[in-house]
Order: sequence, then C-alpha cells, then structure tokens
Amino acid sequence: MVLAVTIMSLIDIAIPPFYKRFFDALLTRETTKQNLQPILVILVTILALHGASWLLNTLSDFAFNRLMARGMADLQNRAFSYLIGHSYQFFSNQFSGSLVRRINKIAQSYQSIFEIFLDIFWPLTISVVGILFVLFGRNRWIGLIILAWTLAILAFNYFYARWKYTFDIERSRKDSEVTGVLSDAIANQNNIQLFTGNTHENKRVKEITDELVKLRIFGWSLGVTSNAVQQACMILVEFVATYVAVKLWQKNVLTIGDFALLQGYILMLFGKLRSFRKSIRSLYEAFADAQEMVDIMNTPHEIQNIRGAKPLVVKKAAIEFKEVGFSYHQTRTVLKHFDLKIKPKEKVAFVGSSGAGKSTIVKLLFRFYDIDRGKILIDDQNISKVTQDSLHNQIALVPQEPILFHRTLMENIRYGRRDATDDEVIEAAKKAHCHEFISSLPLGYETFVGERGIKLSGGERQRVAIARAILKNAPILVLDEATSSLDSESEALIQDALHELMKDKTAIAIAHRLSTIMEMDRIIVMDEGRVVDTGTHESLLKKKDNIYKTLWEIQAGGFLP
Ligand SMILES: Nc1ncnc2c1ncn2[C@@H]1O[C@H](COP(=O)(O)OP(=O)(O)OP(=O)(O)O)[C@@H](O)[C@H]1O
Ligand SMILES: [Mg+2]
Repeated sequence: MVLAVTIMSLIDIAIPPFYKRFFDALLTRETTKQNLQPILVILVTILALHGASWLLNTLSDFAFNRLMARGMADLQNRAFSYLIGHSYQFFSNQFSGSLVRRINKIAQSYQSIFEIFLDIFWPLTISVVGILFVLFGRNRWIGLIILAWTLAILAFNYFYARWKYTFDIERSRKDSEVTGVLSDAIANQNNIQLFTGNTHENKRVKEITDELVKLRIFGWSLGVTSNAVQQACMILVEFVATYVAVKLWQKNVLTIGDFALLQGYILMLFGKLRSFRKSIRSLYEAFADAQEMVDIMNTPHEIQNIRGAKPLVVKKAAIEFKEVGFSYHQTRTVLKHFDLKIKPKEKVAFVGSSGAGKSTIVKLLFRFYDIDRGKILIDDQNISKVTQDSLHNQIALVPQEPILFHRTLMENIRYGRRDATDDEVIEAAKKAHCHEFISSLPLGYETFVGERGIKLSGGERQRVAIARAILKNAPILVLDEATSSLDSESEALIQDALHELMKDKTAIAIAHRLSTIMEMDRIIVMDEGRVVDTGTHESLLKKKDNIYKTLWEIQAGGFLP
C-alpha cells in the first residue's frame, strides 16, 4: 500500500509538467492547427497516467479494507486479553461501560491514525519533496517561496496540535466519564424507578454532557481559528507566487506553460495541506482516544505470577493463614495478625457481624488481592508463589452475590468445568436442586439468563452457582453465604447436597443463618478482622457470654426456653 501511494503521488507530480508542455506546445509555431500529433501524444500520456493512478488507488483500497478489518480486530483482542488480566481491585475501581468504550476507541483510533498516515502524511511528504524538486529546477525564487510557506504551515500545525493535545486528552477523558455515568445509571434503572430518580438522573447526565459540550466547543473553536489564519496565508502565497512568476515571465525566464505548472502545483499543495491541517486534528484526537487504553495496557497487572511460578499441588488440602495483615487500598485495614489453621478435610464455618472481614478472607485465599504481611499456605505452598490459574483451579467458590453470564443456563453451569458433558451438567444441576426450576422453563437449559443473571431469582441464581461449584469438584470448597437467598425448605434440601459435596474436601462456609452451619467441625467467630472464639456449636453454646451464644439466642428466638 505504501508503494502504491508513493507511485500515485509521483504520478500526481508528473502530470502538471505535461500540462506545461501542452500549453507550450499550443503556443509554439511548429504546432500548426493541422498537425495535432504532438498535442495528442501529450494528452494520451496524461490519460494513461491518470488510468494507472486510478488502478493503483482501487487496488490499495481493497488492501486497506482487509488490513484495517484485521488490524482493528487484533487490537481489540489484544486490548481485551490484557484488560481481563487485571485484578479484582482494578475492576472494582472502573466502570465496565467505559472500559468497553476504551477497547472500541483504541481500534477506531488505529484506523484513523493509519488512514491519516497513508492517505495524507505520506502523499504530502512525497508531493512536497517532488514539487520542490521540479520548481527549483524551473526557478529557485519560486521554489524558495513555496518551500518557506510549506515549512511554515507544517511547523505551525505541528506545534499547534501539540499544544492542543492536553485539551484533547481532557476531552477524551470526559467522553469516557460520560459513558461511565450513563452505564452506571442504566445498570441502576431499577433503583431509579424505585426511588423516582428520573429527573435527578436526567439532570446528572445533562450536567456531565454539558461539561463535554464546553470542552468540545473550546477544542473545535481553536481549530476554526487556526484554519482561518492558515487560509489567509494561502491566499497571500497564491498572490505572491503568481506575482513573482509574472515578473519572471516579463524577463523571459518563465513561459506561459510554467504558469500552468505553477498553478497546478499550488492547487495540489493547497489541497494536500488543507487535508493535513484537518487530519492533524483528527490525528491528535485519535492519539488522545487511544491513550486511555494504552495507559491500561501499560499498567502492569496488579497481581502477577512470580518468575518461574510452579503450579499448586494439592494432596491433602490443608490451609493456613499465618500472621496475615491486609488493608484495602493501604487505607482500610481489615485484618491484623490473622492466624488460622484449617486441617485437611476439615469443615470450618465463619460467623460474625457484617463487615467483620469474612468475605475478605475468601478473596485473599483466591489471591484477588496481595496481602501486606504474613503468608497464606495451602499444603505448605505459599499461594503467592504458585501460578494463579492452578490456585483458582483447586478452589470452588459459591460467592455471596453470584453473577452469571448472559448465556444459556447450560453454558453457565458448564463454566464450572468447561469440558463437562450435558449429562454431567444436568447431574450437578440436580444435586444443587436447580433441575426442578430449570425444567419448568419453556426453553429449559437453553434459557438465557439476562445480563449478570438478572432474569433469575436470587435463590435460583445461588443454586446455579452451587451447581457450577459442584461440577468443578475442587479439593477446597468455599461457600460465602451460599444459601442465604433460599427459603428454609430448599435450603434444607441443598444443605444435604452441600454436606455430600463437602465430604472428602476441605470446606469453608460463611453464614449468617447459624442453623446451616451447626454441623461443621469448627466454628470460627470473627469480629473486626480477628478471631474472637472458636469451637463446635455445642462447645460455643456451653461457654458463658460469647458472641456466638448471643447470636444463636437471637436467631433461635422464641423457640428456646
Ligand atoms: N473493595 C473494597 N474496598 C474497600 N473496602 C472494602 C472492600 N471490600 C470490603 N471492604 C471493607 O472491608 C470490610 C470487610 O468486608 P467483608 O466483605 O470481608 O465483610 P463480611 O464479613 O463478609 O461482611 P458480610 O457479612 O456483610 O458479608 C468491610 O468493612 C468493608 O467495608
Ligand atoms: Mg461477606
């Protein structure tokens, strides 16, 4: 493509000299009106050159389309695959809507940048060099005028665009912010309705789009001003160059044909510099648009495998927290000196007030965050020293608020083990008691669940998540409020399945409803990131004055004497 564009630009430069010869030929005495031969030869040559240019242009456009479609898709794939490697923390600080937009924007920027280079910058470079070469050959004064003017325009545009770049970045950032606000509001449609927030949300959106309007008007007005200045320069140069040419013609240095040549070139340069001017704006805007995604791609992944990390090998599945200290964003301290040993195949339960740090412990076990102090060991292997995939493969989690893909129920459950057969999926679904409600759906396992699983009830979503964990069948099982959204009857049913599932595994269950964890080997009572009590259900109840006993009495309510 670069070659084609080069040849096309050279052809563009080659055509005006033929027009010069054409006019000179018309005005010489040798060409009588009876003998058109020399003129025709010139015209046919011009036609042939145009034809060649047309052919190259068409071919290179086809090539361009292919390259662009491929390049944009590759870029999107790369951006996505890097982005998705970022940590849990990264995503909890970002709007998914604006991340999606960034991935799309970088692909579009690539297209603009490439197009500008190929269609504008490269032809302009060749034209300027070629035209100056020809003009200097004719007369150095004319050459100098055009050279000085071209350099001035290029330099002006370059510095102007660089100066404006900071505003472009700001505009692009605001643009993403608008997307973020929009997607947050759309995700909260239900809240807006529940709390009649329509007017409020409209106002919020309007406020932020108004800010964008200001930035856009400012940026575009700058553009108009610079255009006006440059256009004035062009008019002036056209006049000066032609005036000098007339003077030179007077001295018999230039011919009438040279006027045709000069006009041809000046118009060509005008056209190309005008597109350059426009495109330099788009170019910097494209850079600014790409910048946001590039920043993300230049940010190292927060959680990384250490060099030469080995896969985690789980034989017994013992878990140990040693002197663990952890705070969110270095500010919100949740755990200080947290110590806990879980024996192989032991079933422990965490209870404690909301915000005590129970879910945090689970997140740390998965290494969603790196801890500040101490270590976490699984079968004596530090989880920060093994590969993350192998770690995640060994633990099955039913999270507190399960999220599902907008895919079929079959696919969602199969996500627990992607090579499972349909029968295995259904088997797991039966154990988790989802089979009943799934079979009652018109499309059964082929039902789509809506974004994040919104078309299912909370309890149904939880059961799908349990089925997924059952299918995964990892040696360590973690249930974070896994049955909190279920009615007592289905809970009792699932409890059986869960007990079955835990049988030969190390299991951690977090629950507010204490009846669900009575039978665990050990109950760990947490408060403010510390273990305040441990024991079995009976032993804890026997102790005097402890949190567990109080909780139990409240929950058992009037049933206890
Ligand atoms: N991403 C986060 N950034 C900052 N602070 C957080 C984050 N996640 C949790 N926290 C804080 O850490 C503390 C412990 O949260 P955690 O989710 O572990 O509580 P929990 O014991 O699971 O509570 P619950 O019983 O309500 O689920 C809370 O006070 C919470 O505000
Ligand atoms: Mg929790």
